[in-house]
Amino acid sequence: MSIARQTVTVALGDRSYPIHIGAGLFRDPACLLPHIRGRQVLIVSNDTVAPLYAAAVRSLLEAGGLSVAAVTLPDGEQFKDWQHLNLIFDALLQARFTRKATLLALGGGVVGDMTGFAAACYQRGVDFVQVPTTLLSQVDSSVGGKTGINHPLGKNMIGAFMQPRVVVIDTDVLATLPAREFSAGLAEVIKYGLIRDLPFLAWLEAHMDALMARDPATLREAIARSCINKAEVVAADELEQNDVRALLNLGHTFGHAIETGMGYGSWLHGEAVATGMLMAADLSWRLGWLSQADVARVRVLLQRAALPVVAPGELAVEDFLRHMAVDKKNVDGRLRLVLLRALGQAVVTDAADPALLRETLAAGAGLGRATVAGGAA
Ligand code: NAD
Ligand code: GLY
Repeated sequence: MSIARQTVTVALGDRSYPIHIGAGLFRDPACLLPHIRGRQVLIVSNDTVAPLYAAAVRSLLEAGGLSVAAVTLPDGEQFKDWQHLNLIFDALLQARFTRKATLLALGGGVVGDMTGFAAACYQRGVDFVQVPTTLLSQVDSSVGGKTGINHPLGKNMIGAFMQPRVVVIDTDVLATLPAREFSAGLAEVIKYGLIRDLPFLAWLEAHMDALMARDPATLREAIARSCINKAEVVAADELEQNDVRALLNLGHTFGHAIETGMGYGSWLHGEAVATGMLMAADLSWRLGWLSQADVARVRVLLQRAALPVVAPGELAVEDFLRHMAVDKKNVDGRLRLVLLRALGQAVVTDAADPALLRETLAAGAGLGRATVAGGAA
Protein backbone atom coordinates (compact mmCIF):
# COMPACT_ATOMS: atom_id res chain seq x y z
CA MET A 1 0.00 0.00 0.00
CA SER A 2 1.43 3.40 -0.88
CA ILE A 3 0.85 6.12 1.66
CA ALA A 4 1.23 9.81 0.75
CA ARG A 5 3.57 11.17 3.37
CA GLN A 6 6.02 13.92 4.19
CA THR A 7 8.75 13.77 6.81
CA VAL A 8 10.19 16.81 8.58
CA THR A 9 13.23 16.45 10.83
CA VAL A 10 13.78 18.28 14.09
CA ALA A 11 17.56 18.67 14.02
CA LEU A 12 18.90 18.33 17.55
CA GLY A 13 22.10 16.34 17.04
CA ASP A 14 21.87 12.85 18.47
CA ARG A 15 18.38 13.69 19.79
CA SER A 16 17.06 14.55 16.32
CA TYR A 17 13.72 13.01 15.43
CA PRO A 18 11.33 12.75 12.50
CA ILE A 19 7.82 14.11 12.19
CA HIS A 20 5.90 11.84 9.82
CA ILE A 21 2.84 13.51 8.25
CA GLY A 22 0.27 11.78 6.08
CA ALA A 23 -3.04 10.01 5.72
CA GLY A 24 -3.35 6.48 7.06
CA LEU A 25 -0.15 6.44 9.11
CA PHE A 26 -1.87 4.50 11.91
CA ARG A 27 -1.74 1.57 9.50
CA ASP A 28 1.99 1.92 8.88
CA PRO A 29 4.22 0.26 11.50
CA ALA A 30 7.36 1.74 9.91
CA CYS A 31 6.47 5.18 11.28
CA LEU A 32 6.35 4.18 14.91
CA LEU A 33 8.00 0.87 15.69
CA PRO A 34 11.63 1.71 14.82
CA HIS A 35 11.53 4.52 17.38
CA ILE A 36 10.48 2.36 20.34
CA ARG A 37 13.54 1.00 22.09
CA GLY A 38 12.15 -1.21 24.89
CA ARG A 39 9.30 -3.73 24.92
CA GLN A 40 6.81 -1.91 27.17
CA VAL A 41 4.52 0.86 25.91
CA LEU A 42 1.94 2.80 27.90
CA ILE A 43 -0.67 4.47 25.70
CA VAL A 44 -1.86 7.66 27.42
CA SER A 45 -5.08 9.04 25.99
CA ASN A 46 -8.34 10.56 27.14
CA ASP A 47 -11.95 9.41 27.25
CA THR A 48 -12.79 11.11 23.94
CA VAL A 49 -9.82 10.01 21.83
CA ALA A 50 -9.21 6.53 23.24
CA PRO A 51 -12.55 5.07 22.00
CA LEU A 52 -11.80 6.47 18.53
CA TYR A 53 -8.16 5.56 17.97
CA ALA A 54 -6.55 3.59 20.82
CA ALA A 55 -7.45 0.19 19.34
CA ALA A 56 -5.72 0.99 16.03
CA VAL A 57 -2.58 2.17 17.77
CA ARG A 58 -2.59 -0.78 20.17
CA SER A 59 -2.90 -3.23 17.24
CA LEU A 60 0.06 -1.61 15.53
CA LEU A 61 2.19 -1.93 18.66
CA GLU A 62 1.10 -5.49 19.50
CA ALA A 63 1.72 -6.61 15.93
CA GLY A 64 5.27 -5.45 16.54
CA GLY A 65 5.51 -7.77 19.55
CA LEU A 66 5.32 -5.03 22.19
CA SER A 67 3.67 -5.32 25.58
CA VAL A 68 1.01 -2.60 25.79
CA ALA A 69 -0.87 -1.04 28.71
CA ALA A 70 -3.15 1.97 28.59
CA VAL A 71 -4.39 4.76 30.82
CA THR A 72 -7.34 6.97 29.97
CA LEU A 73 -7.51 10.44 31.47
CA PRO A 74 -10.61 12.58 31.73
CA ASP A 75 -10.86 14.94 28.77
CA GLY A 76 -10.21 18.62 29.39
CA GLU A 77 -7.73 21.41 30.08
CA GLN A 78 -9.08 21.60 33.64
CA PHE A 79 -7.59 18.14 34.28
CA LYS A 80 -4.07 19.14 33.21
CA ASP A 81 -2.91 19.11 36.82
CA TRP A 82 -0.89 17.17 39.41
CA GLN A 83 -3.79 15.01 40.48
CA HIS A 84 -4.42 13.67 36.99
CA LEU A 85 -0.71 13.47 36.10
CA ASN A 86 -0.49 11.04 38.99
CA LEU A 87 -2.89 8.67 37.19
CA ILE A 88 -0.13 8.11 34.62
CA PHE A 89 2.38 7.23 37.36
CA ASP A 90 -0.22 4.92 38.95
CA ALA A 91 -0.59 3.06 35.64
CA LEU A 92 3.17 2.82 35.09
CA LEU A 93 3.78 1.45 38.56
CA GLN A 94 0.80 -0.91 38.52
CA ALA A 95 2.07 -2.40 35.25
CA ARG A 96 5.63 -2.51 36.70
CA PHE A 97 7.04 -0.52 33.85
CA THR A 98 10.80 -0.09 33.92
CA ARG A 99 13.24 2.56 32.72
CA LYS A 100 13.09 0.99 29.26
CA ALA A 101 9.39 1.82 28.93
CA THR A 102 7.98 4.18 26.31
CA LEU A 103 5.02 6.49 26.91
CA LEU A 104 2.85 7.11 23.85
CA ALA A 105 0.74 10.29 23.87
CA LEU A 106 -2.43 9.74 21.85
CA GLY A 107 -4.51 12.90 21.87
CA GLY A 108 -4.34 16.66 21.69
CA GLY A 109 -2.01 19.07 23.42
CA VAL A 110 -3.33 18.35 26.90
CA VAL A 111 -2.55 14.63 26.65
CA GLY A 112 0.75 15.35 24.87
CA ASP A 113 1.98 17.87 27.44
CA MET A 114 1.01 15.65 30.38
CA THR A 115 2.47 12.48 28.85
CA GLY A 116 5.76 14.18 28.03
CA PHE A 117 6.04 15.55 31.55
CA ALA A 118 5.25 12.13 33.01
CA ALA A 119 7.98 10.65 30.78
CA ALA A 120 10.44 13.29 32.01
CA CYS A 121 9.67 12.40 35.64
CA TYR A 122 9.11 8.63 35.70
CA GLN A 123 12.24 6.98 37.02
CA ARG A 124 14.02 10.26 36.14
CA GLY A 125 13.23 9.95 32.46
CA VAL A 126 11.88 7.38 29.99
CA ASP A 127 11.24 7.56 26.24
CA PHE A 128 8.10 9.06 24.83
CA VAL A 129 6.50 9.37 21.41
CA GLN A 130 3.85 11.79 20.21
CA VAL A 131 0.78 10.72 18.23
CA PRO A 132 -1.11 14.03 18.08
CA THR A 133 -4.78 13.98 17.12
CA THR A 134 -5.82 17.66 17.07
CA LEU A 135 -4.70 20.15 14.45
CA LEU A 136 -3.17 22.28 17.20
CA SER A 137 -1.12 19.42 18.56
CA GLN A 138 -0.05 18.35 15.06
CA VAL A 139 1.27 21.78 14.10
CA ASP A 140 2.64 22.91 17.44
CA SER A 141 2.49 21.17 20.79
CA SER A 142 3.73 17.71 19.75
CA VAL A 143 6.92 19.20 18.31
CA GLY A 144 9.71 20.73 20.36
CA GLY A 145 9.58 19.05 23.73
CA LYS A 146 7.74 21.54 25.92
CA THR A 147 5.78 19.47 28.42
CA GLY A 148 3.97 20.21 31.64
CA ILE A 149 0.82 20.95 33.57
CA ASN A 150 -1.10 24.01 34.77
CA HIS A 151 -1.09 25.58 38.22
CA PRO A 152 -4.17 27.46 39.47
CA LEU A 153 -2.03 30.62 39.44
CA GLY A 154 -0.57 30.20 35.96
CA LYS A 155 -0.81 28.14 32.82
CA ASN A 156 1.92 25.60 31.97
CA MET A 157 3.94 26.79 34.96
CA ILE A 158 5.16 23.35 36.02
CA GLY A 159 7.00 21.32 33.43
CA ALA A 160 10.14 20.13 31.68
CA PHE A 161 11.78 20.11 28.28
CA MET A 162 11.54 16.54 27.02
CA GLN A 163 11.87 15.76 23.32
CA PRO A 164 9.86 12.89 21.85
CA ARG A 165 11.61 10.18 19.81
CA VAL A 166 9.14 10.53 16.93
CA VAL A 167 5.97 12.44 16.04
CA VAL A 168 3.41 10.50 13.98
CA ILE A 169 0.73 12.70 12.43
CA ASP A 170 -2.07 10.72 10.81
CA THR A 171 -4.09 13.44 9.11
CA ASP A 172 -7.11 11.10 8.81
CA VAL A 173 -7.88 11.69 12.51
CA LEU A 174 -8.82 15.29 11.77
CA ALA A 175 -12.07 14.00 10.24
CA THR A 176 -13.52 13.54 13.73
CA LEU A 177 -12.23 16.81 15.19
CA PRO A 178 -15.03 19.25 16.15
CA ALA A 179 -15.12 22.48 14.12
CA ARG A 180 -14.26 24.69 17.09
CA GLU A 181 -11.14 22.63 17.83
CA PHE A 182 -10.15 22.66 14.17
CA SER A 183 -10.30 26.46 14.13
CA ALA A 184 -8.27 26.62 17.33
CA GLY A 185 -5.52 24.70 15.54
CA LEU A 186 -5.61 27.13 12.64
CA ALA A 187 -4.68 29.92 15.06
CA GLU A 188 -1.27 28.31 15.61
CA VAL A 189 -0.89 27.73 11.84
CA ILE A 190 -1.55 31.42 11.16
CA LYS A 191 0.94 32.26 13.92
CA TYR A 192 3.86 30.88 11.86
CA GLY A 193 2.96 33.17 8.98
CA LEU A 194 2.75 36.16 11.26
CA ILE A 195 5.99 35.62 13.16
CA ARG A 196 8.43 34.46 10.47
CA ASP A 197 6.96 33.26 7.19
CA LEU A 198 5.25 35.94 5.11
CA PRO A 199 4.92 33.69 2.01
CA PHE A 200 3.10 31.16 4.22
CA LEU A 201 0.77 33.93 5.43
CA ALA A 202 -0.09 34.75 1.80
CA TRP A 203 -0.53 31.03 1.06
CA LEU A 204 -2.94 30.76 4.00
CA GLU A 205 -4.93 33.72 2.70
CA ALA A 206 -5.18 31.98 -0.68
CA HIS A 207 -6.07 28.58 0.78
CA MET A 208 -8.20 29.36 3.86
CA ASP A 209 -11.40 28.19 2.16
CA ALA A 210 -9.83 24.86 1.22
CA LEU A 211 -8.45 24.51 4.75
CA MET A 212 -11.83 25.20 6.31
CA ALA A 213 -13.26 22.51 4.00
CA ARG A 214 -10.51 20.20 5.34
CA ASP A 215 -9.21 19.42 1.87
CA PRO A 216 -6.66 16.64 2.57
CA ALA A 217 -3.81 17.85 0.34
CA THR A 218 -4.14 21.46 1.50
CA LEU A 219 -4.25 20.33 5.11
CA ARG A 220 -1.15 18.20 4.74
CA GLU A 221 0.73 21.11 3.22
CA ALA A 222 -0.37 23.48 5.99
CA ILE A 223 0.68 20.97 8.65
CA ALA A 224 4.03 20.30 6.97
CA ARG A 225 4.84 24.00 6.51
CA SER A 226 3.92 24.63 10.14
CA CYS A 227 6.09 21.74 11.33
CA ILE A 228 9.02 22.99 9.21
CA ASN A 229 8.73 26.39 10.86
CA LYS A 230 8.45 24.89 14.32
CA ALA A 231 11.37 22.50 13.72
CA GLU A 232 13.61 25.36 12.55
CA VAL A 233 12.78 27.45 15.59
CA VAL A 234 13.32 24.56 18.01
CA ALA A 235 16.63 23.65 16.38
CA ALA A 236 17.77 27.28 16.75
CA ASP A 237 16.72 27.69 20.40
CA GLU A 238 15.61 24.42 21.97
CA LEU A 239 15.53 25.69 25.55
CA GLU A 240 14.17 29.17 24.78
CA GLN A 241 17.37 30.92 25.82
CA ASN A 242 17.91 33.49 23.06
CA ASP A 243 14.50 34.93 22.20
CA VAL A 244 14.12 32.85 19.03
CA ARG A 245 11.75 30.24 20.43
CA ALA A 246 9.96 32.90 22.47
CA LEU A 247 8.62 34.27 19.18
CA LEU A 248 6.33 31.24 19.06
CA ASN A 249 4.53 32.94 21.93
CA LEU A 250 2.94 35.60 19.74
CA GLY A 251 -0.44 36.33 21.30
CA HIS A 252 0.17 33.90 24.14
CA THR A 253 0.75 36.44 26.95
CA PHE A 254 -2.63 38.01 26.22
CA GLY A 255 -4.08 34.58 25.50
CA HIS A 256 -2.85 32.98 28.71
CA ALA A 257 -4.44 35.86 30.62
CA ILE A 258 -7.74 35.05 28.90
CA GLU A 259 -7.39 31.31 29.60
CA THR A 260 -6.43 31.79 33.25
CA GLY A 261 -8.83 34.68 33.84
CA MET A 262 -11.82 32.90 32.32
CA GLY A 263 -10.99 29.54 33.96
CA TYR A 264 -9.15 26.76 32.16
CA GLY A 265 -11.31 25.06 29.55
CA SER A 266 -13.68 27.97 28.97
CA TRP A 267 -11.82 29.53 26.04
CA LEU A 268 -9.84 27.03 23.95
CA HIS A 269 -6.08 27.68 23.91
CA GLY A 270 -6.10 28.40 20.18
CA GLU A 271 -9.06 30.76 20.53
CA ALA A 272 -7.28 32.71 23.27
CA VAL A 273 -4.11 32.80 21.16
CA ALA A 274 -6.07 34.09 18.15
CA THR A 275 -7.55 36.99 20.10
CA GLY A 276 -4.17 37.52 21.76
CA MET A 277 -2.44 37.71 18.36
CA LEU A 278 -4.86 40.39 17.25
CA MET A 279 -4.21 42.28 20.49
CA ALA A 280 -0.46 41.99 19.81
CA ALA A 281 -1.06 43.32 16.29
CA ASP A 282 -3.15 46.14 17.73
CA LEU A 283 -0.33 47.12 20.14
CA SER A 284 2.19 46.87 17.29
CA TRP A 285 0.01 49.35 15.36
CA ARG A 286 -0.12 51.70 18.36
CA LEU A 287 3.70 51.54 18.45
CA GLY A 288 3.80 52.56 14.79
CA TRP A 289 5.14 49.21 13.59
CA LEU A 290 2.07 47.92 11.69
CA SER A 291 -0.41 49.81 9.55
CA GLN A 292 -4.15 49.66 10.14
CA ALA A 293 -4.33 47.65 6.92
CA ASP A 294 -1.89 45.08 8.38
CA VAL A 295 -4.03 44.74 11.49
CA ALA A 296 -7.14 44.36 9.36
CA ARG A 297 -5.36 41.64 7.35
CA VAL A 298 -4.70 39.69 10.56
CA ARG A 299 -8.26 40.14 11.77
CA VAL A 300 -9.82 39.04 8.49
CA LEU A 301 -7.70 35.89 8.28
CA LEU A 302 -8.58 34.95 11.87
CA GLN A 303 -12.24 35.55 11.16
CA ARG A 304 -12.08 33.43 8.01
CA ALA A 305 -10.75 30.66 10.24
CA ALA A 306 -13.83 31.15 12.47
CA LEU A 307 -11.72 32.38 15.37
CA PRO A 308 -12.74 34.96 18.00
CA VAL A 309 -11.23 38.44 17.63
CA VAL A 310 -12.64 40.25 20.66
CA ALA A 311 -11.40 39.50 24.17
CA PRO A 312 -13.96 38.59 26.84
CA GLY A 313 -15.61 41.64 28.38
CA GLU A 314 -15.53 39.89 31.78
CA LEU A 315 -11.80 40.65 32.06
CA ALA A 316 -10.95 44.22 33.03
CA VAL A 317 -7.64 45.81 32.11
CA GLU A 318 -6.36 45.18 35.66
CA ASP A 319 -7.30 41.49 35.38
CA PHE A 320 -5.28 41.22 32.19
CA LEU A 321 -2.27 42.96 33.76
CA ARG A 322 -2.39 40.74 36.85
CA HIS A 323 -2.44 37.55 34.79
CA MET A 324 0.13 38.83 32.30
CA ALA A 325 2.56 39.45 35.17
CA VAL A 326 2.77 35.64 35.56
CA ASP A 327 4.51 34.81 32.29
CA LYS A 328 7.63 32.75 31.72
CA LYS A 329 9.07 35.38 29.34
CA ASN A 330 9.09 38.08 32.04
CA VAL A 331 12.50 38.96 33.51
CA ASP A 332 13.03 40.70 36.86
CA GLY A 333 9.39 41.74 37.03
CA ARG A 334 9.48 43.35 33.55
CA LEU A 335 6.70 42.36 31.17
CA ARG A 336 8.11 41.05 27.89
CA LEU A 337 5.80 40.69 24.91
CA VAL A 338 6.06 39.24 21.42
CA LEU A 339 4.99 41.95 18.99
CA LEU A 340 5.17 42.45 15.23
CA ARG A 341 7.76 44.79 13.71
CA ALA A 342 6.09 43.90 10.42
CA LEU A 343 3.89 41.06 9.22
CA GLY A 344 6.16 38.02 9.12
CA GLN A 345 8.66 39.58 11.53
CA ALA A 346 8.08 39.14 15.25
CA VAL A 347 10.27 40.49 18.06
CA VAL A 348 10.39 40.05 21.83
CA THR A 349 10.32 43.41 23.57
CA ASP A 350 10.00 44.93 27.03
CA ALA A 351 9.75 48.41 25.50
CA ALA A 352 6.01 48.62 24.94
CA ASP A 353 4.71 51.84 26.50
CA PRO A 354 2.44 50.81 29.42
CA ALA A 355 -0.11 53.45 28.41
CA LEU A 356 -0.36 51.96 24.91
CA LEU A 357 -0.66 48.48 26.37
CA ARG A 358 -3.56 49.68 28.50
CA GLU A 359 -5.18 51.12 25.36
CA THR A 360 -4.89 47.77 23.61
CA LEU A 361 -6.28 45.91 26.62
CA ALA A 362 -9.19 48.32 26.89
CA ALA A 363 -9.90 48.01 23.17
CA GLY A 364 -9.50 44.24 23.13
CA ALA A 365 -11.73 43.74 26.14
CA GLY A 366 -14.42 45.97 24.78
CA LEU A 367 -13.92 48.39 27.70
CA GLY A 368 -13.95 51.92 26.41
CA ARG A 369 -13.68 50.91 22.76
CA ALA A 370 -15.98 48.56 20.99
CA THR A 371 -13.41 47.23 18.58
CA VAL A 372 -9.70 46.72 18.09
CA ALA A 373 -7.86 48.51 15.31
CA GLY A 374 -8.75 47.55 11.80
CA GLY A 375 -12.50 47.87 11.97
CA ALA A 376 -15.51 46.35 13.63
CA ALA A 377 -14.85 42.92 15.11
P1 NAD B 1 -6.98 19.27 23.75
O1 NAD B 1 -5.85 18.38 23.99
O2 NAD B 1 -7.82 19.63 24.92
O3 NAD B 1 -7.90 18.65 22.62
C1 NAD B 1 -9.03 19.34 22.21
C2 NAD B 1 -10.30 18.48 22.23
O4 NAD B 1 -10.32 17.67 21.06
C3 NAD B 1 -10.38 17.54 23.41
O5 NAD B 1 -11.73 17.44 23.81
C4 NAD B 1 -9.91 16.22 22.81
O6 NAD B 1 -10.38 15.11 23.50
C5 NAD B 1 -10.52 16.31 21.44
N1 NAD B 1 -9.89 15.51 20.41
C6 NAD B 1 -8.57 15.33 20.22
N2 NAD B 1 -8.36 14.70 19.07
C7 NAD B 1 -9.57 14.45 18.52
C8 NAD B 1 -9.99 13.82 17.33
N3 NAD B 1 -9.12 13.40 16.42
N4 NAD B 1 -11.31 13.71 17.10
C9 NAD B 1 -12.21 14.20 18.00
N5 NAD B 1 -11.87 14.84 19.13
C10 NAD B 1 -10.54 14.95 19.39
O7 NAD B 1 -6.51 20.67 23.11
P2 NAD B 1 -5.38 21.06 22.05
O8 NAD B 1 -5.89 22.27 21.40
O9 NAD B 1 -4.98 19.91 21.23
O10 NAD B 1 -4.15 21.43 22.97
C11 NAD B 1 -4.20 22.50 23.86
C12 NAD B 1 -3.14 22.28 24.92
O11 NAD B 1 -1.87 22.24 24.31
C13 NAD B 1 -3.10 23.35 25.97
O12 NAD B 1 -2.98 22.76 27.22
C14 NAD B 1 -1.85 24.14 25.62
O13 NAD B 1 -1.26 24.74 26.74
C15 NAD B 1 -0.98 23.07 25.05
N6 NAD B 1 0.04 23.56 24.11
C16 NAD B 1 1.30 23.11 24.30
C17 NAD B 1 2.29 23.51 23.43
C18 NAD B 1 3.68 22.96 23.58
O14 NAD B 1 4.59 23.43 22.91
N7 NAD B 1 3.87 21.95 24.41
C19 NAD B 1 1.99 24.34 22.36
C20 NAD B 1 0.68 24.78 22.19
C21 NAD B 1 -0.30 24.36 23.08
N1 GLY C 1 4.39 26.51 21.60
C1 GLY C 1 5.50 27.29 22.01
C2 GLY C 1 6.78 26.54 21.98
O1 GLY C 1 6.83 25.38 21.67
O2 GLY C 1 7.80 27.10 22.28
